[in-house]
Amino acid sequence: MVLRLWWINLKVPLISLFILLECSILTATALLRLNHTLREVIDRVNEKGGPYIGLVMAYSAEAHELQSSGIFIPNSINPWVDLSGRRFNVGSIREVNVIYVMSGQRRLNAGITVQILLDVFDIRGIVHYGTAGSANDSLSFGDVSIPKYVAFTGSWNWKKFNSQKTHLDELIFGEYDLPQKGGNLLRGLEFKTEEFYSVGEPMKQVFWLEMDPLWFNVAARLQDFKLQQCVNATYCLPEMPKVVYGLKGSTADIFVDNAAYRKFLFKKFQVSTVDEESAAILMTAMSSNVPCIVIRGVSDLAGGEEGKSSTSLSSLAAKNALSVAVQYIELMGPHF
Ligand SMILES: *[C@@H]1O[C@H](CO)[C@@H](O)[C@H](O)[C@H]1NC(C)=O
Ligand SMILES: *[C@@H]1O[C@H](CO)[C@@H](O)[C@H](O)[C@H]1NC(C)=O
Repeated sequence: MVLRLWWINLKVPLISLFILLECSILTATALLRLNHTLREVIDRVNEKGGPYIGLVMAYSAEAHELQSSGIFIPNSINPWVDLSGRRFNVGSIREVNVIYVMSGQRRLNAGITVQILLDVFDIRGIVHYGTAGSANDSLSFGDVSIPKYVAFTGSWNWKKFNSQKTHLDELIFGEYDLPQKGGNLLRGLEFKTEEFYSVGEPMKQVFWLEMDPLWFNVAARLQDFKLQQCVNATYCLPEMPKVVYGLKGSTADIFVDNAAYRKFLFKKFQVSTVDEESAAILMTAMSSNVPCIVIRGVSDLAGGEEGKSSTSLSSLAAKNALSVAVQYIELMGPHF
């Protein structure tokens, strides 16, 4: 945060901020004091190539698609910087300077990694790609969603048995009892908002997080982007996958593989995709006023698969999401 301020200050020609600038440099020095070599490297990376687009993915299958594609050209002098167990890869994609990093799965890893990225490097915005489960029956394997909104759907009040229904956004377990609806000692859950902290604003309670409008509008041009239909030489999807734009996504520290819960999420919140990182990445970026776009390829139906059709298609989903992310980076160009 402090380092980030430091760079913003450099970009904002306001003399009144110079005092703040000076304090921030002192703190920044303290932050990286233990490793002088690293500090020099980071300064050089930022001076030579910044501002960068930060490209963030959560796990190895998603990173593998990028690594094996040859699309990312590593910087010849400083190809990476290792910080807090993450490797920040410095280079370019289609002549746009990019730092890509694999965060690790779920909200905490995603939040930590994006915060480091923003604090240490000169980043103009974040492109996040990965795979997702679909909660919307109109989405198929391999489709790529660029949502307009994402929400955390994993913070709950777990209600007392016999408590009254007080809140609209409740999941009542008894309604799912078999063979018929009934009462249930587990009672149910009430969905909660998140505390959102950001630069120069008081804390706000939020449920939906919205993409940066400027960055989101650029993504509208990707709606006709041609995706890949074939997993390999012998297996192709029955239909050509599509890019869907402007839907809703949900994030929780939960891998959803349950048809009833999938249906509930769609009905209650109209979410089309479920994943474990998007909202954390977006919220961390928004806290520092950095734009962010989310691109998720459908790899499974979140428990909605019937019979044997549940072949894991995560590599095609990751490939399609990556190709949309690369196209987006190219559209942004070096100067957006
Ligand atoms: C479900 O997905 C389709 C795209 O295939 C979209 O047109 C529709 O609006 C989505 N439903 C909701 C509730 O977002
Ligand atoms: C192609 O992909 C399908 C579906 O994942 C798989 O069952 C099949 O073994 C693959 N074929 C080859 C030649 O890799």
